[in-house]
Amino acid sequence: MSAASIKDRIKPLGQISVAGAVEESAAASGPRSGEDVFKASCFACHGTGAMGAPKKGNADDWGPRIEQGEETLIKHAIGGFNAMPPRGTCADCSDDEIKAAIEYMIDGL
Ligand code: HEC
Repeated sequence: MSAASIKDRIKPLGQISVAGAVEESAAASGPRSGEDVFKASCFACHGTGAMGAPKKGNADDWGPRIEQGEETLIKHAIGGFNAMPPRGTCADCSDDEIKAAIEYMIDGL
């Protein structure tokens, strides 16, 4: 058996194990936490109040909005609402990640 033919025989095995490792790492990263999404996508406006955005953890800003119900908040965050851009510009955020980010912003109010 030549070295070349041995290489040929083990090659497919090497490829399979690499493909398996990539799949595993993608699954391990999972959905982002509300805090991660907030810091990456929402902070620019909701951390500072830019453009009149309700600030994280500010009961005066959030009170009347929370009264609309969480469903409405989620709908406005996903679809956009006045100066609030759809998904807060996080185009690749899932609905659950957006929901987690809202919960992070109003946590403790
Ligand atoms: C470019 C600035 C900007 C970014 C980025 C942004 N927002 Fe907003 N958001 C706003 C503004 C401005 C409002 C207030 C809109 C209004 O009441 O007219 C708002 C309002 C909201 C509301 C309240 C909607 C309601 O019904 O009162 C939620 C919930 C919200 N944003 C979630 C998010 C989430 C989650 C993110 C990040 C994934 C995000 N926003 C990113 C500007 C932003």
